Amino acid sequence: MMTRDYLSTNKAIWNADAVNWVTIAERLWRLETPEWGTWGNAEEDLSMLPADMTDMDAIELGCGTGYVSGWMARRGARVTAIDISAEQLTTALGLAAEHGADIAFIEGNAEATGLPDAAFDFAISEYGASIWCPPDKWLREAWRLLRPGGQLVFLGNHPLSLICSPLDGSPAVRTLHRPYRGMWGADWTEVEFEPTGVCFNLTISSWMDLFAEIGFDVARYQELYAPQLASGTRAAIPADWARSYPVEQVWHLRRIG
Ligand SMILES: C[S@@+](CC[C@H](N)C(=O)[O-])C[C@H]1O[C@@H](n2cnc3c(N)ncnc32)[C@H](O)[C@@H]1O
Repeated sequence: MMTRDYLSTNKAIWNADAVNWVTIAERLWRLETPEWGTWGNAEEDLSMLPADMTDMDAIELGCGTGYVSGWMARRGARVTAIDISAEQLTTALGLAAEHGADIAFIEGNAEATGLPDAAFDFAISEYGASIWCPPDKWLREAWRLLRPGGQLVFLGNHPLSLICSPLDGSPAVRTLHRPYRGMWGADWTEVEFEPTGVCFNLTISSWMDLFAEIGFDVARYQELYAPQLASGTRAAIPADWARSYPVEQVWHLRRIG
């Protein structure tokens, strides 16, 4: 397990990288129907969000440019959104104003929000806390924030995409490059190709054990692929690879107790 200060590392990386996400964010904020993950999987296939969120208190953990929060606000939710990067929040605030979305943005760490217990009906993370925070930390915080019976939905990299990724950061291949057993994530800060921050992931059985230990029931587990017509390479995963192997995973959980 790495010892790097992942919080300040990831914060600095996202502050520096925020400018590169503005155009993508502008497109996603404008969408009528949500698209998810690197390959734009359709909401009608994934059901990430309740169709009607009227009167629901919702929180996005690691909101980045805020488009998921924008979609929830449009569905009627009262939305809180937290992110550790001031620069990402600047984009989110600008786009929320442009779209007339009333969202309470907070600059802070999604592992320790400082928000009250049991204040939310719904929590979500798409490539936010779901990959940038150690699971045992941010999942406990999500559980604390949810009301009993509240839902947590999160999307991140599939463990298979990590073990097929070479150690130098070059695109995924059909060969195993890392052990699966003992998986905790990866430090991408010093790789040769497209360096970024420190990400976290677990084996499927470790995710399941952690959910049970914290007090979440699994309502649904989904494995996502690139669409048949996809081409090119996104986030170091070639479309050809992602059509045959799951590139992302979505967990739909419910707080018990
Ligand atoms: C790829 S963005 C995902 C958010 C959103 N779906 C988007 O694409 O704009 C990742 C975000 O996670 C944020 N993040 C990383 N670590 C965090 C932490 N500990 N607490 C809150 N946000 C964090 C980063 O600042 C970044 O804005």
